[in-house]
Amino acid sequence: MPDSLLRVLTCGSVDDGKSTLIGRLLFECGTIPDDVMAALERDSKRFGTTGDNIDYALLVDGLAAEREQGVTIDVAYRFFETERRRFILADTPGHHQYTRNMVTGASTADVAILLVDARKGLLVQTRRHAAIASLLGIKQVVLAVNKMDLVGYDQAVFDRIVTDFDALRERLGPLSVTAIPMVARDGDNVTKHSKHMPWYKGTTLLEALENAEPDDAAVDHAFRLPVQYVNRPDHTFRGYCGTVASGVVRPGDEISNATTGIGALVSRIVTMDGDLKEARAGQAVTLVLDREIDASRGDVISSGPTPRKADQIDTWVVWMDETPLFRGRAYQLMLGTRLVIATITDITMRLDMDTLDEIPVRELHMNEIGRVSISLAQPMACEPYQQSRDLGGFILVDRLTRGTVGAGMITALKGGHADIHWHKLDVDKKARSELNHQRPAVLWFTGLSGAGKSTIANLVEKRLHAQGRHTMILDGDNVRHGLNRDLGFSEADRVENIRRVAEVAKLFVDAGLIVLVSFISPYRAERMLAREAVEEGEFIEIFVDTPVEECRRRDPKGLYQKADAGQLRNFTGVDAPYEAPLEPEIHLHTMSGTPEALAEDVFRALRERGVID
Ligand code: ADX
Repeated sequence: MPDSLLRVLTCGSVDDGKSTLIGRLLFECGTIPDDVMAALERDSKRFGTTGDNIDYALLVDGLAAEREQGVTIDVAYRFFETERRRFILADTPGHHQYTRNMVTGASTADVAILLVDARKGLLVQTRRHAAIASLLGIKQVVLAVNKMDLVGYDQAVFDRIVTDFDALRERLGPLSVTAIPMVARDGDNVTKHSKHMPWYKGTTLLEALENAEPDDAAVDHAFRLPVQYVNRPDHTFRGYCGTVASGVVRPGDEISNATTGIGALVSRIVTMDGDLKEARAGQAVTLVLDREIDASRGDVISSGPTPRKADQIDTWVVWMDETPLFRGRAYQLMLGTRLVIATITDITMRLDMDTLDEIPVRELHMNEIGRVSISLAQPMACEPYQQSRDLGGFILVDRLTRGTVGAGMITALKGGHADIHWHKLDVDKKARSELNHQRPAVLWFTGLSGAGKSTIANLVEKRLHAQGRHTMILDGDNVRHGLNRDLGFSEADRVENIRRVAEVAKLFVDAGLIVLVSFISPYRAERMLAREAVEEGEFIEIFVDTPVEECRRRDPKGLYQKADAGQLRNFTGVDAPYEAPLEPEIHLHTMSGTPEALAEDVFRALRERGVID
């Protein structure tokens, strides 16, 4: 069996002929069993798009359901080999190009095949794929100019596309490019030279792949192994399992746990096929050490310079959610086996896909790639992506839907808050609230404009005050005159508006006060952030539930009228969303009670919950 292995990523839009190309490669390299071949012939007649000829795309677009829909929905790795080497093809459907596979599967690729339809030339999609491939650290690209038959095998068309790509390449950093004109459907220049394009003297696709250099960069870096799990079948054996992210390890090597700094010597490297004398980047192994280092899932075992721990990182993020990425919003960040809450602290630039220029922005929209600064809830051992794909590549997960919304690469670790220490003070929240004879809390009133939040909050505060409680009220309209006077009503600004108010509310809770917050606060994500800023039980979400028709009827500030007349944009309930609380601590239906009665309800609920006695 050939020794060397090449990982190949295929990128192309839906109808560039990617499946056909991969099918061709698999077919011509003879890796297709006879029964699959027979099924393929049968299916080609039934579903194929190539008349009586074999439709190689069907080989790749495996599932019957997909065939009937005529689109590829699967994401897959395919294996084939020639006498010279083995290949793994990572294939992601055109419209899902940036799913998490980009950072997992694609990030290990040595070579990217960028497929271009000769009739269409370079599309925005092609530029995006090239930019992503380059950000992912892929240094070799095959520019596969497909469907040459449809442009009369014309060299001028091919040359023009190559020239266009050269202009792009200058902006991408070091990248070696092999451009090949082909007809994937007929096999021209796939594994055999084309009779139709005698003007092309270069290699076929297969030759290009056989000649490509595997990317060994990871092996040259210091040894790092993110622990996937700790194997302890009994008290005599303890092994740390994971895939070597970078470098080489041998028995006798000195290693340490990057999280705790505790060191040990490697005594064995265990695998299914017996013990190894050394393990290199990409190999899955179990390390046995000469003493206990207290490592668990998510820790990084390393040698050489210890990976730095950082809680502030600069990154490139590829955003893939319909809801844009906003500064101030929090997500779950997954890096290898580790999960940590991550808050977006800054968004500065996005890549323009036509020119690859960096353009200043404040938010990132679907499919955009931008420079994003992130703050992590706990420091984490990580590295710039260029040094380690495994310790520098991550995904962002929405905390409410659990969907993957972004993929990213660390460009720099920052000291940031690591240098600002938390000052332990003698007079703390407990001391302050004891002096006030009360439990601190946040009463968070949320609801549409005109729902009655401020009116009810005002009545509740009056009653608390009359009882001698120490309170503070934060009201949207008022805070927007001071602290938040720089913010408007775009989604991004509202996210920041609530983030700041959540921080201020937390400070007042630390002061031992009962804080009443009255903001529309339309997004669940930010209300969750506010809830998490304080301790369990201190956050009371009060949903002031008034149907929008009723708010419009009341219209105390005349704003609904303006919004309906198109004079006021992004007005909540009219042309901006409101995400109602799913499980508020207190739910007030304002249609069924006077403000005084509702304030009384709040008061009673606070007593039942032990916020006040
Ligand atoms: S929030 O959405 O960011 O939480 P906030 O509570 O601070 O809003 O401010 C809402 C108040 O601003 C409303 O009560 C209203 O008086 C005023 N306002 C002005 N423009 C808008 C708008 N486009 N949408 C909502 N409220 C607006």
